[in-house]
Amino acid sequence: MIEKYIRDVPDFPKPGIVFKDITPLLQNPECLKASIDGLAQAVDPASYDLICGIESRGFIFGTALARQLGKGFIPVRKPGKLPWKTASESYELEYGTDTIEIHVDACEGRRVLVVDDLLATGGTMEAALKLIRKVGGEPVAAAVVIELGFLPGREKVAPVPVHSLLRVD
Ligand code: PRP
Ligand code: ADE
Repeated sequence: MIEKYIRDVPDFPKPGIVFKDITPLLQNPECLKASIDGLAQAVDPASYDLICGIESRGFIFGTALARQLGKGFIPVRKPGKLPWKTASESYELEYGTDTIEIHVDACEGRRVLVVDDLLATGGTMEAALKLIRKVGGEPVAAAVVIELGFLPGREKVAPVPVHSLLRVD
């Protein structure tokens, strides 16, 4: 169902990248519900305590999922946005490099599910998993709406398992 609501935008944000635009999916109430329900079913909620969402599209799915399951939400953000003490990780994207940060008191001793809209190279997800470990949390799984199957993102974040609703080849 959700596949039809993901729009391919060629050459965004750079030439050669086919951007997977999730805004049609978000705009459609049945699709939005199906996405959150799918993520809720992908990983046993008893296996984690908190949901971590990665800025910015991971916030949309992560907070909706946390609300649906009665879990707490922790943000991983772009640099300079979090107000308290942070840990940082830099990583490579399909179209550049970036840094992400987490609060040092976000998830010590807690089991964490990391949610994002899309897994491409896996650089962002791997950096988020490292951040969670750095601050004393245990990343148990990653859940994404879309996985680019032609990139080795899944291999990059192993042994943490990746659950995706839609694999695009
Ligand atoms: C996109 C996407 C993932 C990441 C995936 O975020 O939402 O977080 O790229 O790419 P990777 O697997 O190669 O690391 P982006 O950094 O474009 O930020 P945005 O959500 O704020 O648009
Ligand atoms: N993040 C990394 N690669 C992407 C793509 N092709 N579409 C949307 N978001 C992305």
